[in-house]
Amino acid sequence: MAQLWGGRFTKETDQLVYDFNASIRFDRRLYAEDIRGSIAHVMMLAKQKILTEAEKEDIIAGLEGILDDVEQGKLEISDKYEDIHSFVEATLIDRIGEAGKKLHTGRSRNDQVALDMKLYTRSEIHKLDDLLKELLLTLLSVMEEHLDTYMPGFTHLQKAQPITLAHHLGAYFEMFKRDHERLRDIEKRMNTCPLGSGALAGTTYPLDRQYTASLLGFDGPALNSMDGVSDRDYLLELLSALSVIMMHLSRFSEEVIIWNSNEYQFVEIDDAYSTGSSIMPQKKNPDIAELVRGKTGRVYGALNALLTAMKGLPLAYNKDMQEDKEWAFDAMDTVRHCLTLFTGMLGTMQFKKDRMEESARHGFTNATDAADYLVNRGVAFRDAHGIVGRLVLLCIEKGIALDELPLEEYQKISDVFAEDIYEAISLKTCVNKRVTTGAPGREAMEKALKIYRNYMEEY
Ligand code: ARG
Repeated sequence: MAQLWGGRFTKETDQLVYDFNASIRFDRRLYAEDIRGSIAHVMMLAKQKILTEAEKEDIIAGLEGILDDVEQGKLEISDKYEDIHSFVEATLIDRIGEAGKKLHTGRSRNDQVALDMKLYTRSEIHKLDDLLKELLLTLLSVMEEHLDTYMPGFTHLQKAQPITLAHHLGAYFEMFKRDHERLRDIEKRMNTCPLGSGALAGTTYPLDRQYTASLLGFDGPALNSMDGVSDRDYLLELLSALSVIMMHLSRFSEEVIIWNSNEYQFVEIDDAYSTGSSIMPQKKNPDIAELVRGKTGRVYGALNALLTAMKGLPLAYNKDMQEDKEWAFDAMDTVRHCLTLFTGMLGTMQFKKDRMEESARHGFTNATDAADYLVNRGVAFRDAHGIVGRLVLLCIEKGIALDELPLEEYQKISDVFAEDIYEAISLKTCVNKRVTTGAPGREAMEKALKIYRNYMEEY
C-alpha cells in the first residue's frame, strides 16, 4: 500500500478496502497526461514565485525522467500505488527528494484527475476523428468507382426502386460526416482547464490559471471551481457521439452481412477480413462485421452506465466519478478498433456489379417508372398504378422481369404503351432521370461527390 494521505489515520487501511478503492489498475494509462499537467502546473507555480526557479528545474527534470523511463520500459507503474497521481508524485519524491514534495502545492487530485482525463479524451477525439477521416475517404473512393453500378434500393428490406452503389454509400458518407462534426463540437465545449479548481473551492495561492490553461492548449480556465472538478458532461457527450458512430457502423455491418450472404452475393469480403468454420470447410464468415455490430452494445452500455453513475451526485467531487474511466476507456478503444477494422474491410471488399444489377432488374424496381411513363402520356397516376400492378402480376406468373415482357402483352393491358417503354424502364434511365439534389442520378451524384471532395480537403 502506498498512499498520499496517511497522516490523520491511526490504523492501516484494510487490504480489501484498499484494493476496492484503488484505480491504478486502469488509470495507469493516464501517466503521460498526468506528467504533462504537472509540468504545466510547476511552470505556473514558478512564474508566480510560489516555487523557486531551481525547484522548478529539478521537478521538471524529475518528471521528464519518469516519463522517459516509463516509455522505455525502465520504470514499471506498480500496482502498489493507489492511483497514477500517487505513483508519479511518490516516484518524483524518491528520485529528487525535498523539491518533489512541493509539486502538489495549490492542487488537489480532484482537479488533477479532471485535467488528466480531459487531456486524454481530447487526444482520443483527435485519433477517432482521423479514423473517421480514413473511413470517409475510403467511402468516397468506392463511390467514385460505382456511379453506374445499379442495385436495388430497399424499403422494409423489399426491393423498391433502383439506385446506384455510389448513392447507397453516400448515405453512410452523410452519417459519418455528421459524426465528425459532433466530435468537433464536443472538443469546442470541453476545452476549459480544470487545473486550479483545487479540491472544490480553488486555492489561496496566487495561481495564474490562464497561464496553465494556455500551456496545456485550453481556451481558458474552467470558470467555476466546483464545476471544474465535477464536470463529466464532455464524457457523456463523447459516449453519446461514440454510440451514434457505433449505431452507424452497426447498420452498415448489417448490410455487409446481408450483401455477403449466399442469397445476395452483392459483395465478397476479402479473405484477409473473413474467418472460417472449424467444422464446415466451405464457410467464409463475415465475423468482423458481426463483431462490430455486437460491440455496439458495449458502447451503449458505457453511456448508460456513466449517465446513471452521475445522476444522483451532489456537488462537487465524489468517488463515484472514478468509475468514468473504465467505461470511457473501453468505449474509446472499442470505437477505435471498430473504425480501423471496418475501414480495412470496406477498402478490400469486392462489389459484384453484375449481381447487383441483376437483382435490381428482377425485383420490379422499375415499376414506379413504368407508371410514370403512363402518367407522362396522360394516364392518371392511380390508374397507371393499377395497370402496372397487373403487368407485375403477369411477369411474376411468367417468372420474368418487366423488360422481358413482349410489347403485345403491355398493349393488351394498355394501348398507351409503345416500343419506347423498354428504354423508359431500363435501370440506367430509371436512375439517371433522378437528378434533383440528393437523388441517385449520375448528374446529381457527380455534384454531391464534388461537394464531398471539397469537404474532405477542408477536414
Ligand atoms: N482516482 C481518483 C479518480 O479517478 C482520483 C481523484 C481522487 N480524489 C479523491 N479525493 N479521492 O477520481
